[in-house]
Amino acid sequence: MADARARHVAIIMDGNGRWAKKRHLPRAMGHRKGVEAVRALVRSLQSIELECLTLYAFSSENWKRPEEEVDDLMDLMRRFIKSDLPEFLEHDVRLKIIGDWQSLEPDIVEMLEDALRRTADGTRTLAVALNYGGQAEIVAAARAAAEAGDITERSLANHLYTADLPPLDLLIRTSGEVRLSNFLLWQSAYAEMLFTDVLWPDFTPDHLRDALDHFSGRERRFGGR
Ligand code: FPP
Repeated sequence: MADARARHVAIIMDGNGRWAKKRHLPRAMGHRKGVEAVRALVRSLQSIELECLTLYAFSSENWKRPEEEVDDLMDLMRRFIKSDLPEFLEHDVRLKIIGDWQSLEPDIVEMLEDALRRTADGTRTLAVALNYGGQAEIVAAARAAAEAGDITERSLANHLYTADLPPLDLLIRTSGEVRLSNFLLWQSAYAEMLFTDVLWPDFTPDHLRDALDHFSGRERRFGGR
C-alpha cells in the first residue's frame, strides 16, 4: 500500500454519564471531564499527523435530554470556545462546525462565527458536530444536488458539510456502544470502524495514537480485492 496514513478521524464521544456514575458524581462532571479529554486531544494534534479530527459534540437528538443537561452542554461549548480559541490560533488549528449550528442560541452562533473567522487560515481542522444529524445532512445535500440538476454521488458529496474535508478514514466510538447514532452516515461508507470500551473522559491522545497505528497496519479494499 502506498500510503495508509489516516488523514481524517471522527469520534463519537460517548460515556461521559457512565464515567460520572461510576464515581457517584453528577452527569455534569462527566461532561466537564469530557471537555478536558477534547482539550488534550486538540493539543496533541501538534504531534499527531492528522489533517482533520471531527468530534460529535451534540446531535440533533440530544435536544431530548433534560433541559438542565442541554443548558450545561451549551455552557461547556461557550466556555470551551472562549478558553481554547487562543490555543487553536497558536497551534494552527482551523475550527469548522458541522450541523445545523446556526439555529443555536444567538450568542453561541456569534461566538462560533467569530472563532471560524479567526481560525480560517489554520492548516489542520477540528470539525465539531453541533446539532448534527446524518440523515438530515443527506436529505439537504440531495435537495441541493437535485436543484443543481446533478444527482450523482460526487455532486451529493459536494453538498455535504464535509465537502472540503479529506475522506473519512477512521470512525471511533468510545464506551462500548456499537452503533453510528446518525453520525457521518454517508462519509462512513468506506471508513474503518473502531469501537472501544474506554469511556470518553478516559480517552487520551495515546488511545488516538494507538488507533492510528492500528489503522495504518490495516489494508482497506474499497470493495475491490
Ligand atoms: C455522550 O456521553 C456525550 C455527549 C452527549 C456529549 C459530548 C460532549 C462533550 C464531550 C463535551 C462538549 C464538547 C466540546 C467539543 C466542548 P453520554 O452523556 O451519552 O454518556 P452515557 O451514555 O454514559 O450516559
